[in-house]
Amino acid sequence: MLDLLIQHATLPDGRQDQSIAVQNGRIVDVAPGLHAPAHDTLDAQGLLLSPPFVDAHFHLDSALSYGQPRVNQSGTLLEGIALWGELKPHLTHDAIVERALRYCDWAVGRGLLAIRSHVDVCDDRLLAVQALLQVKRQVAPYLDLQLVAFPQDGVLRSPTALANLKRALDLGVEVVGGIPHFERTMAQGSDSVQLLCELAAERGLLVDMHCDESDDPMSRHVETLALHTQRLGLQGRVTGSHLTSMHSMDNYYVSKLLALMAEADLGVVANPLINITLQGRHDSYPKRRGMTRVPEQLAAGLTVAFGQDCVMDPWYSLGSGDLLEVASMGLHVAQMTSQAAMRQCFEAITTAPARLLHLKDYGLAPGCHADFVLLDARDPVEALRLKPARLRVYRRGQCIAQTAASPTQLSLPGRPEATQFRL
Ligand code: FE2
Repeated sequence: MLDLLIQHATLPDGRQDQSIAVQNGRIVDVAPGLHAPAHDTLDAQGLLLSPPFVDAHFHLDSALSYGQPRVNQSGTLLEGIALWGELKPHLTHDAIVERALRYCDWAVGRGLLAIRSHVDVCDDRLLAVQALLQVKRQVAPYLDLQLVAFPQDGVLRSPTALANLKRALDLGVEVVGGIPHFERTMAQGSDSVQLLCELAAERGLLVDMHCDESDDPMSRHVETLALHTQRLGLQGRVTGSHLTSMHSMDNYYVSKLLALMAEADLGVVANPLINITLQGRHDSYPKRRGMTRVPEQLAAGLTVAFGQDCVMDPWYSLGSGDLLEVASMGLHVAQMTSQAAMRQCFEAITTAPARLLHLKDYGLAPGCHADFVLLDARDPVEALRLKPARLRVYRRGQCIAQTAASPTQLSLPGRPEATQFRL
């Protein structure tokens, strides 16, 4: 007897009328027209069943702190960093835990079941680290939370950051972070990349750095990140987040850089909502979009994910944990409007970030965890267009969130009584 049998589902790769059989929290079969006794069956009615959304870049320690202690007036990155500095001394363990748990509730409701969150280690108390390690344990039954030791004030620029970062890793934070463009000089930025990659290699950890989050085309720390990844044999284990300076770089230089990044099998995370609002702030017109070169990176064979980065915090007052909103913005900013490119945008919030996080047993295949989302859409492109209800969210074969479909009721002469915004 199966635990769960889902029938008549459409999968993100285009296969239709698929059945998914679940036993003991894992997928045991995926095939058309399966019939077997099950404790629970669900007719997907041709709708899209996707593996859960994965956010490769987030800040759970600052999320939902909007307005504390004040609102970012200019909306700039630098005022955001200053504001976070004002908030930090007032943070409490319980407040961080409470906000983080509330955001994880939102995430589950949106079908987002894995998050890589940076956690600021530039606080000698390591309050946020302790709080998020507690949250990680608490949400583990329903959400995979992966933490990155992130030296927000610069691992070399801030006097205690390196010691704190190592303490955070000792406590169980599992990824090494960095912020080379925020160090005092280009040279110190390069030194920080080398130091942090060597630390990760020594400890057998993954790396994910905020890298070149700048409009300065000469901010080239990604080159150094690729070098040390290759030199230390860390291929496939290192991610460059943001990489916004690539938007402004010289095309010839980028053609050399992409080959180095491919050689290092560097992961890339673009954060379209944040990049489009924070970059280009010193421009008059035309204003740069600032997002990294996603289509070119994909064409070079790199794994590229779209991340949410911020929700209702010092840097960004909007957001709700909806990765479809994130990918929709990425699609528009990168002009990825072909059918194939739109599907790549869907992969950039599902399979691509799962690869960057090294998630185990992720996907819709026999042997994978029975984690999936039933969307009120018929395919990935319609999902990106409508950002529809996540009708059911499953974790290990159990339904952990439900949202009703809500067609709009109409009262128009001679017209249908409702519309679902579909042709
Ligand atoms: Fe970030």
